Amino acid sequence: MAHFAKPDVGSWTENHPELGTQPVSYEDSISPEHYEVERKAIFARTWLNVGRVEQLPRTGSYFTREIAAAGTSIVVVRGKDGEVRAFHNICRHRGNKLVWNDFPREETKGTCRQFTCKYHGWRYSTEGELTFVQQESEFFDLDKEDYGLAAVQVETWEGFVFVNLDPENRTSVQDYLGEFATGLAGYPFDKMTQVYKYRADVGSNWKLFIDAFAEFYHAPILHAKQATAEESRKLSGIGFEALAYDIEGPHGMVSSWGGMSPPKDLDMVKPIERVLHSGLFGPWDRPDIEGLDPLPPGLNPARHKAWGIDSFVLFPNFMLLIWAPGWYLTYHYWPTSYNTHIFEGALYFVPPKNATERLRQELAAVTFKEYALQDGNTLEATQTMLESRAVTEFPLNDQEILLRHLHKTARDYVAGYEKTIATPVRISAAS
Ligand code: FES
Ligand SMILES: [Fe+2]
Repeated sequence: MAHFAKPDVGSWTENHPELGTQPVSYEDSISPEHYEVERKAIFARTWLNVGRVEQLPRTGSYFTREIAAAGTSIVVVRGKDGEVRAFHNICRHRGNKLVWNDFPREETKGTCRQFTCKYHGWRYSTEGELTFVQQESEFFDLDKEDYGLAAVQVETWEGFVFVNLDPENRTSVQDYLGEFATGLAGYPFDKMTQVYKYRADVGSNWKLFIDAFAEFYHAPILHAKQATAEESRKLSGIGFEALAYDIEGPHGMVSSWGGMSPPKDLDMVKPIERVLHSGLFGPWDRPDIEGLDPLPPGLNPARHKAWGIDSFVLFPNFMLLIWAPGWYLTYHYWPTSYNTHIFEGALYFVPPKNATERLRQELAAVTFKEYALQDGNTLEATQTMLESRAVTEFPLNDQEILLRHLHKTARDYVAGYEKTIATPVRISAAS
């Protein structure tokens, strides 16, 4: 077990006095009114990761994203000039959703030369210009140049496609991600194109699932059944401690040990993991690609030889988990109401060269699913009882520093937004 490299003075949390150490309210996760403000204050204003450039491999490749929290749907498309653009997914004629297949509320993807509205057949180029109007002469002084698709700001960072729905936003995604962006630059994300994806409707506030992945305090208990019986007894006795935590503006990260890849003692893991040399930490052997040696400076900040994983909580709803054995995970949490959200988890590997490598990746993917289901189970149980308001204050320990930070950040965005509007919405017990 790794040593807990705490700061010289005080705990991790005490080194961030703005976070406080007092018990916290979860009113921000159970109040419909608070969520309504979060939609405008956070999801309509911050950079949101909507995918990767590999999802747009050629001219005309596109995908749509339903961003319920911001009350819109967008279409992201690679134009003839190779540029990635994003548009509100709405036809300029009478407002029909422009790009969808059989079900208008479902996301879609594909490749096209142009977008054609299903209602009256207006057409738009992949660069967003209105190119064709059915019976154009029937309109009154209509200049097609005035009716291009409504653009959304889009930028890529290390191949991750981000959009910002606030036309007034002036911060680049690089600046928004700050030192975490600099510290991760150069990681070979582009070589890890074998993707395994999960998606689930979860009955909890979006922040509660981030909470579940932003601390490992629960791991030896909630996930006890994942280890062998003897190992889990040992782990639950020791508890868990991370290698390091860091906070950069609205974002946070926790760096953790990697005792399972490969395990020190093969009896720690299940027979199938012993046979395949893979498990939750992914295939034990690192792929032979550039960019992993040395790692970018932002990874393994404690420079610990037992390093296993860094989990970045990129505000508001994107987590990036980079594993020592050379693969990464993404989590997204898309709110659909104050107490529901869509969770997406995706594992990214270097494409397997043979069946064994493929099976190793599949084992990592199904093991991840088991863990995520265990995490997901507690969320609905937590949400329903938080909503009882039978208890309203909850103590957080030092390992739960990122939770304190996430909820404070979200509340600060809400408070900042309220200052800018004439009649603020009052949120009780939110600060
Ligand atoms: S609404 Fe799209 S062409 Fe009429
Ligand atoms: Fe977990």
